[in-house]
Amino acid sequence: MKTRYMDMKEHIDPKDLALAAKAIQKGELVAFPTETVYGLGADALNEEAVAKIFKAKKRPMDNPLIVHISDMAQLSLLTDEVNDLSKRLMAEFWPGALTILFKKSNRVPKGVTAGLDTVAVRMPQNEIAKKLIEAAKVPIAAPSANVSGRPSPTKAWHVQEDLDGEIAAIIDGGDAKYGLESTVIDVLGKPYVLRPGSVTLEMLRAIEPAFALDPALKTGTQKPKSPGQKYRHYAPKAAAELYVMEKEGLILALKERLKAVSGKKIGLMLCTETIRCFVGEGYNIIDMGSRDLPAEASFKIFDAFRTLDNWGAELILIEGFQEEGVGLSLMNRLVKAAGGKVYGEEEMF
Ligand code: TXA
Ligand code: MG
Repeated sequence: MKTRYMDMKEHIDPKDLALAAKAIQKGELVAFPTETVYGLGADALNEEAVAKIFKAKKRPMDNPLIVHISDMAQLSLLTDEVNDLSKRLMAEFWPGALTILFKKSNRVPKGVTAGLDTVAVRMPQNEIAKKLIEAAKVPIAAPSANVSGRPSPTKAWHVQEDLDGEIAAIIDGGDAKYGLESTVIDVLGKPYVLRPGSVTLEMLRAIEPAFALDPALKTGTQKPKSPGQKYRHYAPKAAAELYVMEKEGLILALKERLKAVSGKKIGLMLCTETIRCFVGEGYNIIDMGSRDLPAEASFKIFDAFRTLDNWGAELILIEGFQEEGVGLSLMNRLVKAAGGKVYGEEEMF
């Protein structure tokens, strides 16, 4: 299949947008930008279209999809029950990077929810995403537009790298604003964060103090409520190690490790404060920005993984962040990318 590339970085092209919407209506797949990461969209109410998502992404069938809506009328297609807390959260955070679980209505195909009785719903803020859903006139089911197991796409070329030739179109809307997938919450019982994102635990607690992290996120021993959390994804092809230490200890630990693996092609993902100790030694160094600005690092990590993989890195050493605010969400992704190879003070996950 020839994948149509649609450039909407500067402005939304109405002709291309109509073509993309038509493709969705015909049951085809369209990758589109959102403020979190790029999504791989299909008509959420069309079982066959949804099945194509799983095939193109090589996604495990037990991992449910997020359904994207552009107005509240579409929510009532997906669920018949909206409780008071979810109303307050929608009023505060929609449109935006928050995905909320609802009891699913029988109009939602089984494939979307992987057989679960809940459906995950988000109203994105990104203008292109909003306009695409409006034009398609259906809710759009969309996981991140990467092949399963690969880093989430935060730029259109990331999508191209994984899915070119497999889908009808890719809409290029430039860099994703946040670069971390949405926060997924379950407020059907005690309110839990199933996947942390740029809507932080602190922000959620300002609305409802009872919010807690899904214990499975911390220990890794319990079964996560969000099936996607159990897979080793967000990961580069290269082996990765995460170092969570204060600055002096970190520099020593990294120097020692680099000595032990000398001769290998090494990628370093370091904060600006640390970089100067490692320049000029043949490493491929990615500047993640200041230690105090995890939001900045967040939109760099997935691009960094792909860039270092394409360079042929055999090992990537990553500097960790404090697990506060967005830093907690960022660390959730970094710990996963490192496949548990975490050294130092990391405690949450
Ligand atoms: O920011 C995002 O959320 C992006 C953009 C495209 O919206 N989408 C995204 O989708 O990250 P995906 O499929 O890569 O991740 C969806 C996560 C998975 O961890 C999945 O297990 C969880 O949401 N999820 C979906 N439906 C669920 C449900 N009914 N119950 C529990 N977890 C659910
Ligand atoms: Mg994903």
